[in-house]
Amino acid sequence: MPPRLTRRELLAGAGAFALLSRIPVGLALGPSTSTSPATPALIDDLIARMTVEEKAGQLTLFGSALQTDAAAAANPVTVRPTAEGQLAAARAGRLTGIFNGSNVRWHQRLQQAAMASRMKIPLIFAADVIHGFTTVFPVPLAEASSFEPELARRTARAAAVEATAVGIDWTFAPMVDIARDARWGRGVEGSGEDVLLGRRMAEARVRGFQGEGLDRNDAMAACPKHFAAYGAAEGGLDYNTVDVSERTLREVYLPPFRAGFDAGALTTMASFNEISGVPATANTWLLDDVLRGEWGFRGLVVSDYTGDMELILHGFAADERDAARLAFLAGVDMSMQSGLYLRHLPPLVADGAVPMARLDESVRRVLRVKAALGLFDDPFRRMSPERARSMQRRPETLALAREAARKSVVMLKNQRDLLPLKRSGQRIALIGPMATDWWNTAGPWTLFGGDDTGNDLASAMRKAMADPGALQVVEGTGFGRGLPGGVQAAVAAAAAADVAVLAIGESLEYSGEAQSRTMITVPDAQQSLVAAVAATGTPIVIVLSNGRALALDGPVLEAPAILVGWFLGSGSGPALADILFGEHGPSGRLPVSFPRESGQAPYHYDHKPTGRPDPTPDALQPFKTHYRSVSNSALFPFGHGLTYGRIEYAGLDVGSGRLSADGALEIGARIHNRGTRAAEEVVQLYVRDRAASVTRPVRELKDFRKVALAPGDSADVRFTLRREDLLFVGPGLEPTVEPGLFDVWVAPSAEADGLAGSFELVA
Ligand code: NOJ
Repeated sequence: MPPRLTRRELLAGAGAFALLSRIPVGLALGPSTSTSPATPALIDDLIARMTVEEKAGQLTLFGSALQTDAAAAANPVTVRPTAEGQLAAARAGRLTGIFNGSNVRWHQRLQQAAMASRMKIPLIFAADVIHGFTTVFPVPLAEASSFEPELARRTARAAAVEATAVGIDWTFAPMVDIARDARWGRGVEGSGEDVLLGRRMAEARVRGFQGEGLDRNDAMAACPKHFAAYGAAEGGLDYNTVDVSERTLREVYLPPFRAGFDAGALTTMASFNEISGVPATANTWLLDDVLRGEWGFRGLVVSDYTGDMELILHGFAADERDAARLAFLAGVDMSMQSGLYLRHLPPLVADGAVPMARLDESVRRVLRVKAALGLFDDPFRRMSPERARSMQRRPETLALAREAARKSVVMLKNQRDLLPLKRSGQRIALIGPMATDWWNTAGPWTLFGGDDTGNDLASAMRKAMADPGALQVVEGTGFGRGLPGGVQAAVAAAAAADVAVLAIGESLEYSGEAQSRTMITVPDAQQSLVAAVAATGTPIVIVLSNGRALALDGPVLEAPAILVGWFLGSGSGPALADILFGEHGPSGRLPVSFPRESGQAPYHYDHKPTGRPDPTPDALQPFKTHYRSVSNSALFPFGHGLTYGRIEYAGLDVGSGRLSADGALEIGARIHNRGTRAAEEVVQLYVRDRAASVTRPVRELKDFRKVALAPGDSADVRFTLRREDLLFVGPGLEPTVEPGLFDVWVAPSAEADGLAGSFELVA
């Protein structure tokens, strides 16, 4: 055996398998209480007595006949179910559940119909509860900026409390797709470009949604989606082809799913995309070999909306019957919206094309999830008209929304301490399409949100100011198009002010499903507005709304202060005012790198080195890795974010500098706040494997910690690195770690120098 392999084997241990790997997940699946009547034997008994049509019904999910306009607009119109039709289907046992309804009385009626059916199997009620329910939390990408998984757990918990009160048992969340291409509009639903942050957020959100136990009335089943690699769409074009190596799939795209399942998620959703020639919805390797075989996942796989039918347009299935057969046999248990399983599984079984045993297996998976949710104990357990009212938008939930919004804001620049603004003695012009807008602050995937009028930025700033009359508000322009006289009014307001705050950026329609952009810039009309306002000489603060990384340039980039505000939800205006006036300092960090130009997309900090790296990004050298006019580094990298403090890193300590096969290496640094204001610093640990049998990224995040520092304070931050933190997918596609030299950084961002050292991993 070659020595390298021997060492690798020596180093592969239990930790290896926990990370990238082959340990069964979902073993906890089963009836959630010992008193549950839905024991495995009872589930078997139900299956033994069901007709093939009833079995196909248990595998068939439809959008609710009663939906809010926003919920209805989230998907293309296919069939238009009537309420009567859905009641009849429930009574006939031809429906497993519905999704995206929010009317508790309707849910009760449908459940009554199901309980009057021959088999009395309860329906399951699902919904896209992506970032809050009636209380809107920051979009997931924004919340990832907090670098605080515990915050994500708390907001997911609060969303579950609201949603379950109207009878929701199952959320189609968290979205855990790693998104490295800012052109793709759905990055807004996830946690950004980094695998470690993605894993931690996935885990936290699953725990939050599922609470203390799935059989609790305020818990709902989580659904890490979209399985898999949906974020790797070519050209950042939604639904587009994905062609990734198995190594990248295992190393980048799959780990957040694994983290979600390890945290107890019992369901997942097959993604719309193909992966290297085979659509995920019909991908036996992905669903059967990896998910169920290697990982031992025992939960259920649902298709995405008409994803099974789309196999025909993918050019993978010949017709509907073929599509149903391929998706089902590949491992998709439940069909969403197309009705294909209902129509085609019974004849497919009759013809012997689908074994009845496979049907039984999928029905069993569905019934086990319903049992785990306690639905067999009490099918109405989450439907309480009283709770549906009393649990919405409670003061503590709205306070959490404001806290989450505050922690999601990232300060990119703050020259000459322009921020924080003064509550009195400063005339402020608030300009831009987001100044008085509250609707767009909700962001995409707000299907059930309550009325947040009054939480707009202008109202919140007035409330925070000693003299609200010192604030002048001008819209200036629309998001995409100018307004008559808008720029002149803005210029006049700015000229009469001491400082101008420009609330600009993307409206909520710019991101979300099917909202890819070719240019990830601030739209021209707004750039012109900013240029005109900047020309007055009044200092400007940019407050961005955005659902993706933006390539900032021109007057926007030149502004002395820039805050990234994403879409912050119900707490948006007050949270931004908290930061603008210094009630709280900014503490967010970018979960996605902001490139210099759109053409750099896809850009991610943890790229591989080339043989000709450019050592001088500011003075481009010939024959090095860069574009003709611009270096291939980020404008604002992953992890970047400033505070109102003055933070210094010092005293890197890499202990013995040696990490043994079964040991741990403590890495420490001292973080000072030399400023006059309190700060929360997100201290980040990165490593680089200098030479390995498979090339490794230029840096990889291995841990992070948020520390609160009063003015003049300092803190020792210590990280522990273990061998399993250094694993990668080796030449044989197995988790591998190899002895050798590693660079290490304790730094404030992925591309900041920070404190640099090295250590050796010894066999
Ligand atoms: C399609 C989206 O891709 C998915 O994320 C969502 O859960 C379903 N529609 C249901 O609304």
